[in-house]
Amino acid sequence: MKVLATYAIKGGVGKTSAAVNLAHLAATSGLRTLLWDLDPQGSATYVLRVRPRVKGGSAALVTGRRALDVAIKGSDYEGLDLLPADFSYRSLDLELDALKKPTRRLRRLLDPLTGEYDLVLMDCPPSVSLASESVLHAADLLAVPLIPASLSLRSFDQMIAFLDTLDAGGRHGVRVHRPQVLAFLSMVDRRKKLHRDLAARLPEEVADLSTVAIPALSAIEQMAERREPVTASAPRSPAALAYAQLWAEIAARLDLRW
Ligand SMILES: Nc1ncnc2c1ncn2[C@@H]1O[C@H](COP(=O)(O)OP(=O)(O)OP(=O)(O)O)[C@@H](O)[C@H]1O
Ligand SMILES: [Mg+2]
Repeated sequence: MKVLATYAIKGGVGKTSAAVNLAHLAATSGLRTLLWDLDPQGSATYVLRVRPRVKGGSAALVTGRRALDVAIKGSDYEGLDLLPADFSYRSLDLELDALKKPTRRLRRLLDPLTGEYDLVLMDCPPSVSLASESVLHAADLLAVPLIPASLSLRSFDQMIAFLDTLDAGGRHGVRVHRPQVLAFLSMVDRRKKLHRDLAARLPEEVADLSTVAIPALSAIEQMAERREPVTASAPRSPAALAYAQLWAEIAARLDLRW
């Protein structure tokens, strides 16, 4: 079982759009896939038409009072299950903080699912918190959307610095596993000079940059209206093909075969 997280410190950069499409593509590839929506906003849950509710809330999951598999729901897509968001995830940090080795907790919760899924994809809220540390420890690979703007690059640098602090033991003095990173350009509008310039410059500045860029496309924006991954509603569209290329690169990085 491999663990992938769509993660960025910055908000609104395309994490959830990537998570939903990548999870759908993984399931379509034949991998038993679980998408864990860790964001109290519940956008991934909404797109997949599942009720954003976890009985007992995040506290029950995090303390182990309720096993993850009890909270998992099916989706409309074969091979794709969802661990829905719940508004209580807003206090995930506080709940983790009350536990021993909080940074290792999410990984520990996932371990019993090893035989049931080939891929777990975590869709994270934009933050740099204790919950984020726990995600980073659980993940084999972070897929990090970068919008072509200086502030987005700045928060990417902050994220790399954050990963470096984990190598040193992190805030809780517990060594945290360092995931691989794959950054990719997101919401690229080639009509804008700034986007073209940054896209050309970025490969020199970002070591782990994918060759795949996700263009700014209304088909992706409309996913929340249609409540369907674009890879399901329009699998031959440019939007779906871009995500398919990204998925191929991620699957290779994770050594996933089917
Ligand atoms: N490639 C794209 N082209 C056009 N619109 C996009 C694209 N990717 C995302 N969007 C839109 O931008 C908004 C933010 O995208 P998304 O929810 O995927 O980002 P996020 O990083 O998960 O946000 P948050 O930090 O709030 O969780 C949404 O309205 C989405 O529809
Ligand atoms: Mg999101």
